[in-house]
Amino acid sequence: MQQVKLGIIGGGTVGGGVFDALQRNGALLASRLGVTVTVQRVAVRDLKKIRTSNIPKKLLTTDWREVVFDPQVELVAELIGGTTVAREVILAALKMGKPVITANKALLSAHGEELFAAAKKYGANLYYEASVCGGIPIIKSLREGFVGNRINALYGIVNGTCNYILTRMKLEGADFNEVLADAQKLGYAETPPDLDIDGHDAAHKTGILASLAHGFWINPKKIHVEGIRHISALDIKFAGELGYTIKLLGTVKPISNLLMTMDASKNTSARKSQIANRKCQVQVSVYPTLVPNSHVLASVNGVFNAVFVRGDVVGDALFYGRGAGKDATASAVLSDLGDAVLDLKSGAKNRLPAFVPHECSGCVAPIEEVVSQYFVRLNVVDKPGVLAKIATIFGELNIGISSVIQPEGHEGKSVPLIFMLHYATNGAAMKAFAKIAKLPAVKGKPVMIRVESFE
Ligand code: NAP
Ligand code: HSE
Repeated sequence: MQQVKLGIIGGGTVGGGVFDALQRNGALLASRLGVTVTVQRVAVRDLKKIRTSNIPKKLLTTDWREVVFDPQVELVAELIGGTTVAREVILAALKMGKPVITANKALLSAHGEELFAAAKKYGANLYYEASVCGGIPIIKSLREGFVGNRINALYGIVNGTCNYILTRMKLEGADFNEVLADAQKLGYAETPPDLDIDGHDAAHKTGILASLAHGFWINPKKIHVEGIRHISALDIKFAGELGYTIKLLGTVKPISNLLMTMDASKNTSARKSQIANRKCQVQVSVYPTLVPNSHVLASVNGVFNAVFVRGDVVGDALFYGRGAGKDATASAVLSDLGDAVLDLKSGAKNRLPAFVPHECSGCVAPIEEVVSQYFVRLNVVDKPGVLAKIATIFGELNIGISSVIQPEGHEGKSVPLIFMLHYATNGAAMKAFAKIAKLPAVKGKPVMIRVESFE
């Protein structure tokens, strides 16, 4: 049987997981591919480190060049993370015409354009299934499975650590920092975990998915990102009372779709052409979102990820699975390994180029122009006239209130005041919150969480 020698850079959670999975399922993979994959070398940082994986010591080196430049190594897996050495590793391998597999969404987000251009230039493929949603084959599905669909909306719970934290806060009333420490012990969190909890890891992944769905490279700086640090037990409680669950959601949708449905009665021909001009503007954002409990994404719990895709031919489709951890991520790397080996065997290069322009050259819509519905929690002094002042500010900015909750309070004391708001642009909503925050009766920073109705 034909043999392919694999060089792995990184022997941690993912690299170790890939090695162990190859030991376990290598024969199965070989029978399916008609090619045996053997690991030639593994680069790590510290040879003395005690490892939970079964990588034999004799395969280890601390010099990644010994792996990439080894003439026997035909295929390289970059599994170290970070955006400096990892970039060097990938560019060096591609320059030698060696295909590369990576799980590194931070690197793809920051340098994707350069790396895919290098892959094209040197005729070596770059595979990245493990970069988004761990074990869920979402890259392959979007790129190949939905090649005949326009993607009208995509919503993703794409960060396992945040979903694990929010789930345990909701179901167990657990403390944020304790759950984060557990996520780190379980190998879910990035180093440092700020990448997860401040929403950046989800933004890297959402950007990659948006690029595939809309055919243009998403500059990470254009993605509006909010993390979960400010989500409190109170927000989870009030959202629950209103029939919602808070999820960190990556959202990708052409803004014209929502504008058409939002105010259908006002769709004059002038307005329709105004909307059509914005056809190629896409909302690409990551923020905590109130998801109705009746929607399937509300029940995606723990480290599980899910991506909900709405295609114009397929309709609604849901992908669900473990979004992080050793085995789930190893499964995605093995999927790329299968593709890479078959492409090597058949000589296929850049079978489906990564990011090709679709029907129009798109751009990311500024968040101020995106329309959303909102949950707002204020802490106000309970005294006459406060509610009226706040309602006036919303009214002046043309923002409709759909409901108000004020738990029974004591005059003169601080009480929570919750508003659910109708659709409004984020620009108008932000102006309103800034004005409200300045009212003397409003104590602390208003909490605003967007609400998604999946229309
Ligand atoms: P990790 O456990 O920290 O492992 C990193 C590995 O890289 C370690 O073996 C480390 O060596 C090695 N390494 C670091 N710098 C190196 C260098 N300059 N030269 C040689 N080896 C070096 O990280 P991980 O969780 O496996 O993540 C790896 C990648 O997969 C990241 O891009 C991450 O974002 C991505 N990813 C992770 C998950 C997950 O669930 N963990 C899921 C999807 C994607 P030592 O072992 O000696 O320290
Ligand atoms: N830190 C990431 C997460 C790992 O929690 O989702 C998987 O990409």
